[in-house]
Amino acid sequence: MTDVASTCDPGVSRLIGWFRTDGADFPWRRTRDRYAVLVAEVQLQSTQVGRVVPYFEAWMTRWPTACDLAAASLGEVLAAWQGLGYPRRARNLHLAARRICDVGWPGAADLTDLPGVGPYTAAAIRCFADGAPVLPEDTNVARVLARRFPDGWPGTPQGLGWEVGQAFMDLGREWCTARAPRCDDGCPLRAGCPAASAGAVLERTPPRRRQSRFDGSMRQRRGVLLRELTAHGSVVADRDAAAAASLVADGLARVDGAVLVLPEHP
Ligand code: ADE
Repeated sequence: MTDVASTCDPGVSRLIGWFRTDGADFPWRRTRDRYAVLVAEVQLQSTQVGRVVPYFEAWMTRWPTACDLAAASLGEVLAAWQGLGYPRRARNLHLAARRICDVGWPGAADLTDLPGVGPYTAAAIRCFADGAPVLPEDTNVARVLARRFPDGWPGTPQGLGWEVGQAFMDLGREWCTARAPRCDDGCPLRAGCPAASAGAVLERTPPRRRQSRFDGSMRQRRGVLLRELTAHGSVVADRDAAAAASLVADGLARVDGAVLVLPEHP
């Protein structure tokens, strides 16, 4: 365990001390395997941690390596994803696994070449698998940074990348929340927090992109079609033409005559 006293910023030292005693124990925190971290991070995008835990465990039991996932059919993968939402994530994860299995992992600077891996997920793999001193900045982390370090993050100390990254995740999710921040309930970053000192924590919340009502209803209609598609292998295409077209555009389905089928359907 790296000595925290040697870090430069006292807030960062307190954060790590807090995480070492109070940090959550999630299954993806018991591994440093890049593939497992990729699975967890993709599942955690837009889905709450409690909901992800059983999916992650089942996934890793069924497909413990990238090559195991690569060998599965898209239909199996989409069926296992059922209930997590945003199934394009599953398709991209499957494509990424096939690429990793075929040609290996890209270099650290090229992780975003993998399907579905953007700057956040690339940073998460570097931080949570490789232990690199980079901070993966999702909505929660961005909020903590905006409130507590408005002049910029002082930098992750060498050797502490994993702990700092995970600590930020817990803090943003449970303490420094968007609407009910628990500043005086043991927040390890309370001392020296400019937002809390100014009584302006809520005001210093970066704006969030809201899903439009249309996006929400289209998501639901796509979900209905995709559930049938994975259960029966095909569904009549003109039952919901707009939802069908949207699935096709995302590579989740293909039109075959009058029916919609999975892209890998022979
Ligand atoms: N959300 C995204 N990544 C996470 C992680 N590693 N732990 C908890 N929540 C997360």
